Amino acid sequence: MNVAIIGCGYVGTAVAKYWQQKMTLVVTATTTTLPRVSELETFAQKVFVLQGSDHEELEKVLHGQDCVLLSVAPRRGNSYKDTYLLTAQTVAQVLKKSSAKQLIYTSTCSVYGDQNGNLVDETTSIAPTSENQQVLCDTEQVLLTELKDKLHVCILRLGGIYGLGRELVKIYGRVAGQTRPGDGNEPSNWIHLDDIVGAIEYARHYHLQGIYNLVDDAYLSNREVIDRVCEKHNLPKVTWDSSQVSNRNYNAKISNEKIKAAGYKLIHPEMIF
Ligand SMILES: NC(=O)c1ccc[n+]([C@@H]2O[C@H](COP(=O)([O-])OP(=O)(O)OC[C@H]3O[C@@H](n4cnc5c(N)ncnc54)[C@H](OP(=O)(O)O)[C@@H]3O)[C@@H](O)[C@H]2O)c1
Repeated sequence: MNVAIIGCGYVGTAVAKYWQQKMTLVVTATTTTLPRVSELETFAQKVFVLQGSDHEELEKVLHGQDCVLLSVAPRRGNSYKDTYLLTAQTVAQVLKKSSAKQLIYTSTCSVYGDQNGNLVDETTSIAPTSENQQVLCDTEQVLLTELKDKLHVCILRLGGIYGLGRELVKIYGRVAGQTRPGDGNEPSNWIHLDDIVGAIEYARHYHLQGIYNLVDDAYLSNREVIDRVCEKHNLPKVTWDSSQVSNRNYNAKISNEKIKAAGYKLIHPEMIF
C-alpha cells in the first residue's frame, strides 16, 4: 500500500516511522524545508519539498497513493489561511482526480470555540471565536464537502498534543511559579502522540469517515494538569488570578465516545506526567 504524508512534522514523522517500519507501507513525505530532506529520507521512501498550495507538485506526490495523511501546521510567520485552507483546497482538487481511497486530516478541538466548558461531541455546533479558528472550521468543511462522493475523509479533532520530546514538563515548566490569568478551571483535553499514531492507523485500517474527537479519558482542568506537572517535577506552584480573563483559545470539555464506539482503544487513557 502507498501512503503519503503532507506535512511531516511532530505527528507526521511519528506516523511515517510507524507506517514504514511496523506496517511496511511505502511512505511518501513532504516538507517545506530543503535541509529536512535527508532526515525524512530515513523513514520515507520518497520525499518532496513543497508548499501545500503547489498544485503541480502535489499531483506528483499524490499520484498512485492509496491513503493520504494531511498534518500541516503553520511555520513561524505564515498565516493559517495559507497553511491550512489553501493546502486543503489544493489537496481536494488533486485528490478528486486521483485513485486514493482515504484521506485523514489532523484538525483540532479548538474549532469548538467557546462552549462555556460544557461537554461537546461531534454533533455539537462549532463556535469559532477568532479568524484563525474560522479558517480551521473552513478547512474541515472544504475537505468534507469537496471529497464526500470521492473517497473516505476522516477528520480527527485532536486535543493538545504531548508525548516523547514534547513532554508536559517542557510545555508547562516555564510557567512554574507564575500567576496565570483566569481560574484555571477550563477543561484541558490532551492526547498523547502514541494515541494520535494509533488512531490514524485505526482510521486507515478501518476506513473511518466523518469527524472524530481524539482526547484521552483524564478530563482534568488546566489547573489540575499544571499542579500535577509542578508536583511531579518539584517546581514552584502556579497561582491563578480570576480578576483577569483566561487566555485559553477555546473552552469545551471534549467527548471521546464516538471514536471509542468505533472500536479504538486508547493506549494512554490517563495522562503521563
Ligand atoms: N500542537 C498541538 O497541541 C495541536 C493540537 C491540536 C491539533 N494540532 C494539529 O496537529 C497537526 C500536527 O501538528 P504537529 O505538531 O505535527 O505540527 P508541526 O510539527 O509544526 O509540523 C507541521 C508540518 O507542516 C508542514 N507545513 C507547514 N506549512 C506548510 C505548507 N504551507 N504546506 C505544506 N506543509 C507545510 C511543516 O513543514 P516543515 O517540515 O518545512 O516544517 C511540518 O512538516 C497540525 O495539523 C495541527 O494543527 C496540533
